[in-house]
Amino acid sequence: MVKVLFVCLGNICRSPIAEGVFRDLTEKSGLQEQITCDSCGTSSYHIGEFPDERMQATAKKHDIMLAHRARQIHREDFSKFDYIITMDKSNYQNVLSFKNRVSFNTEPSVMLMRNFDDNKDNLEIPDPYYGSDEDFEEVFEIVKRCSGNLLKFIQEEHLQ
Ligand code: 4NP
Repeated sequence: MVKVLFVCLGNICRSPIAEGVFRDLTEKSGLQEQITCDSCGTSSYHIGEFPDERMQATAKKHDIMLAHRARQIHREDFSKFDYIITMDKSNYQNVLSFKNRVSFNTEPSVMLMRNFDDNKDNLEIPDPYYGSDEDFEEVFEIVKRCSGNLLKFIQEEHLQ
């Protein structure tokens, strides 16, 4: 089983939609027995909360239901997951410095989600929290593009 963890700051906007879109894609590809995913935040701000209502509405529009409850990243994630996929550079740096403080025999690959985007003007998924409905839609579109390429990458690395 390949395990993927999506990480953002609050775990109520970007990483829950990444988890939802990626899981939908793995299920539609019949790979749910081979690949699992989860999401979390680097901060403790929204622990226990459902995704932001604007993110839920955007997901629903695209037939994706988000049932996740926000949680903060913890040390066990570094031994449990094969890939930690971060939404922006700040999350990326925070995850790496956390990883360097806790040493494990097996370590996940830490990557930026937008490395998997064919159509990128930068390497970050913009934080929509203080933005408009269009900003939430843009996050969805970016996540959708990246998820397809991430799935292809994992298939090539592990499932062929
Ligand atoms: P996320 O968005 O990291 O994509 O979940 C945010 C959610 C909450 C906050 C910032 C970003 N906040 O400052 O509370």
